[in-house]
Amino acid sequence: MASLNEEDELAMSTDELLQAQVELYHHCFAFVKSLALKAATDLRIPDAIHRRGGAATLSDLAAETGIHPTKLSNLRRLMRVLTTSGVFSVVDDSAGVVYRLTRVSHLLVGAGGRPNLSPVVGAFVSRSFVAALFSMHEGFTNERAAAMSLYEVAHGSTIWETTVTGRGSEIFNAAMAADSRFTMDNLLREECGGSIFGAVKGSLVDVGGGHGAAASAIASAFPHVKCTVLDLPHVVAGAPAHDNVTFVAGDMFDYIPPADVVLLKWILHDWNDQDCVKILRRCKEAIPTRDEGGKVIVIDMVVVGSGESQGIVSTETEVLLDGFMMCMDGIEREEHEWRKIFVESGFTDYKIGTTMGIRRLIELYP
Ligand SMILES: C[S@@+](CC[C@H](N)C(=O)[O-])C[C@H]1O[C@@H](n2cnc3c(N)ncnc32)[C@H](O)[C@@H]1O
Repeated sequence: MASLNEEDELAMSTDELLQAQVELYHHCFAFVKSLALKAATDLRIPDAIHRRGGAATLSDLAAETGIHPTKLSNLRRLMRVLTTSGVFSVVDDSAGVVYRLTRVSHLLVGAGGRPNLSPVVGAFVSRSFVAALFSMHEGFTNERAAAMSLYEVAHGSTIWETTVTGRGSEIFNAAMAADSRFTMDNLLREECGGSIFGAVKGSLVDVGGGHGAAASAIASAFPHVKCTVLDLPHVVAGAPAHDNVTFVAGDMFDYIPPADVVLLKWILHDWNDQDCVKILRRCKEAIPTRDEGGKVIVIDMVVVGSGESQGIVSTETEVLLDGFMMCMDGIEREEHEWRKIFVESGFTDYKIGTTMGIRRLIELYP
């Protein structure tokens, strides 16, 4: 968007001023899109459309979701928000209004054995994260708050302490498991991802591996790879049993179990540079030399920015996710920022490979 100097601003016509007001309100109400998506996911509208063979009328949706009869017109309004934002599509012809899934809402159904990403919506569009982002002003200006993550400012504990017990922890760990199933499913199906994990000599430790979804996918695809998950004791205690994964409770800042390969999926973006260096030094201690097959695999975003040839949705997603990461004092990094951390942790070489949607697979060599 073009910038304005003071003279241009004073010279704006009434039409321009009113159009600027429209744009301002557009920004104010953007959060309605996220919350409408959350409501639709909670109401299981994607499943309802899927159960009706991929096309459902408003009364089908009302019947399937059990909404209160007086709320039919609100359901229509909710669907209008979501068809406008591309989550669903709508056909309005002589036969009436029919809603269908788009490629976005297909991901919330999990049809055909594909992992279902609904839990991710519940975790990311949650009261606890929204409350954390409401603390942004305090976090910028208050001396005490400036030393904490926004999550701590809002809730009095870090996100990792909060995921100790209760519904919040279930929601977060289920979301991470859904993301891992989906990501690994796609990665292992592709030649490049499959060859990287297939080449692991004998063992892999998934550091911060949550409930073991990624490790289990790797062990199922490559039974010769002995997979271990390291995570905090309360996370490991709540993990479901996987017969091909060993769980180790611990703190990655203290000790990482030895393995040929360490996997760090969506870990480093949670931490500042100094903490990333500490984690990576522990990883380096856990693996053998490069000649013996030692490496760290990082799955995380490499920020490209608006100057590169990527669409507006990808650029905005990069920026929005980076803003979201302020919740836990995390950061999304550009390549030069990654390189600095890798070098400081004592790694000699790295290779940024396969793009997987918003993330990349980085191979890091000791
Ligand atoms: C964003 S989640 C990523 C989970 C998983 N790697 C994935 O992508 O699905 C971060 C994980 O790091 C774990 N974690 C946080 N602090 C940790 C620590 N000090 N030691 C080990 N794991 C930790 C959390 O419990 C959580 O499972």
